Amino acid sequence: MAIRICSQKEIITFWLETDHSLYQMQVDGYGLLHHLWYGEKTDCEMQYLLDYPDVGFSGNLYEAENQRTYSLDTRPQEYACAGVGDYRIPAVSAVHADGSNALDLRYVNHTIRKGKYRISGLPAMYAEDDAAETLEIRLKDTASDVEVTLKDGVLPALDMITRCAEIHNQGETDVILTRAASFCLDIPYGSSWEWMHFHGRHTMERQVERMPLLHGIQESSSRRGASSHQQNPTLLLCQPDCTETSGVCIGAALVYSGSFQTQVELDQLGQVRVVMGIHPDLFRWTLHAGETFATPEAMLSYSGTGMETLSHNFHRAMRDHICRGKYQHIERPVLINNWEATYFDFNAEKILHIAEEAARLGVDMLVLDDGWFGKRNSDVSGLGDWVVNEKKLQGGLGSLVDKIRAMGMRFGIWFEPEMVSEDSDLYRTHPEWAIQIPGRQPNRGRYQLLLDMTNPDVVEYLYDAMCKILRCADISYVKWDMNRSICDWYTSTLPAARQGEMAHRYMLGLYSLLERLTSEFPDVLFEGCSGGGGRFDAGMLYYCPQIWCSDDTDAYERTKIQYGTSFFYPISAVGSHVSIVPNHQTGRVTPLESRAVTAMAGSFGYELDLNHLSETEKEEVRKQIAQFKAFGSLIHNGKYYRLTNPMTDKAAIWSFVTQDASEVLVQGMQFRTEPNMVRYVVRLRGLSSEKQYRLEGTEQVYSGAALMYGGVLLPRSWGDYTPVSMHFVEA
Ligand code: GLA
Repeated sequence: MAIRICSQKEIITFWLETDHSLYQMQVDGYGLLHHLWYGEKTDCEMQYLLDYPDVGFSGNLYEAENQRTYSLDTRPQEYACAGVGDYRIPAVSAVHADGSNALDLRYVNHTIRKGKYRISGLPAMYAEDDAAETLEIRLKDTASDVEVTLKDGVLPALDMITRCAEIHNQGETDVILTRAASFCLDIPYGSSWEWMHFHGRHTMERQVERMPLLHGIQESSSRRGASSHQQNPTLLLCQPDCTETSGVCIGAALVYSGSFQTQVELDQLGQVRVVMGIHPDLFRWTLHAGETFATPEAMLSYSGTGMETLSHNFHRAMRDHICRGKYQHIERPVLINNWEATYFDFNAEKILHIAEEAARLGVDMLVLDDGWFGKRNSDVSGLGDWVVNEKKLQGGLGSLVDKIRAMGMRFGIWFEPEMVSEDSDLYRTHPEWAIQIPGRQPNRGRYQLLLDMTNPDVVEYLYDAMCKILRCADISYVKWDMNRSICDWYTSTLPAARQGEMAHRYMLGLYSLLERLTSEFPDVLFEGCSGGGGRFDAGMLYYCPQIWCSDDTDAYERTKIQYGTSFFYPISAVGSHVSIVPNHQTGRVTPLESRAVTAMAGSFGYELDLNHLSETEKEEVRKQIAQFKAFGSLIHNGKYYRLTNPMTDKAAIWSFVTQDASEVLVQGMQFRTEPNMVRYVVRLRGLSSEKQYRLEGTEQVYSGAALMYGGVLLPRSWGDYTPVSMHFVEA
């Protein structure tokens, strides 16, 4: 039983237990649902920790009469409400017909059932019925007919708890939601905490920042209509002594790809509150009588043994219980993508020339990137016209794909469905489908406008146009791109009073299209993309088991981007390619092997014209592909270890270990070489100290204890960005 209830009169305590964590909450005598504990498993009701003084200016519950120590402003809440005396960040806020803005939610009842709840129209974790339990706690406002159902999914073996809320209007008049977070987590238990988040920009996503919490509110968020390059919808809270391998931390990931807000508040008493969900600035949702609003889901995990365990929990959960479809577990094809090789300047002949050499070297699939459709010779025109440009691809897609298939390769294709160029037939026919506010000039991003995904006609058009292409030839892969941020929120599909629903309805339209297409084409591998990793989140992973991690293909910069990405997302989700040097984003020159080991820490491919390599380099490429295929399962299904921190250390080194610890692949690069340098030592993790391991290609055997406590000597470094690739197998 993952969920246990203890009741004593009107006091009800909920115990949500996973293999290594306990989440505890309690309904008190006033019917208020308090948070008690999220952390190490204990056998105690943690209520005894809630001992509050009479804090001035923290008012009291009316029913508490003269009990001045009872305040909503100090006590930990499960789903904090606006307007009734908790002055910290609210999780939910609603405006009633009389204009008042308050909710006072009290316990009504609860249900427990086998299996994990699902959320209609939204991505969410899934599990077999015997691997999860669901707790639903129903709360009701004291003065209105607004009800909230808090849903908890408990997945014990994964050490995961999921959360979402449903808000119901059971009354007769409209209620306007101005905030509806996915969860609220109060952490009252005394120690200080640090906050880690993942910030960045285009071509530099998910840089890691860790800092002590300051009194007041700190925030990481996106108002861009996508989860964004700038911030990621994940959060890591850790105690100051927490490292990769020891200490306490809590992680949260939102299963959502739109605008979001994560706020962390250190309150007047030194307690922490985290609230995460849809960004309230772009949210104002009318609930008519009888209607329900469902928030996106958040995934939570706790680790008492450092960030590595936390990452392993999220990797497993995302890989096995968020990603879906045929490609979830099978090895991904090694791709060649023509973007950096040709940009818009290609024709069928050029593509076939690239494909031929790639096929010869062992590549599995050619991906034809942007420029194959409409009038698309540069990024100023053509988006929306999903019809093959036969001037470029003489003979059409069918003939090109047949030739590529005849080389023994599969074929994939790029789309940017949500966009429209003003210079396109689609815009000329349906200017009203583009997002713009009447009477205002729309903001252009990369010259393009957005399609209104809240409009069912738009979604239908895209579905038909994409189906037509996917059926006209033997297509095995789709790259789903999204190359600008969203603003000018206005849709003709909603009345003035409901425009605040558009940002979330855009996501519902997008998810519905993704759901239909991925179901209609179950054999097609969908890869997400948004100018690289601008929409790298658990929501997109539900439809696309891999996401192009960054438009930066420079191997050195990529080690940092992939390091940040690895805190929450599994290696199998990370699209990563070898490109030409000097690198197109930084001008840096790195060795071919370093580029390859970096790209192998992901779903591997190439993005260059292999014809331009020397014969020796081509031979190297052939070996890299063979190596990736040999290690594919270890890389994607093994445990991933961050052995150094590329932000601060002199090398970026990581490893993959099989679940039974019989094999480890150590890869990465050493950044700079100095004269007379001693060799860099890296301690491995996750091995068995009793086992003996032989270093492949040598007769050298080491004990697991030696490799973990002493470490491995990395190869002597020569030049800059020296590659590392060492494979140890149980002797
Ligand atoms: C985005 C993607 C690139 C490429 C271009 C094409 O920037 O991230 O990989 O597909 O669009 O326009």
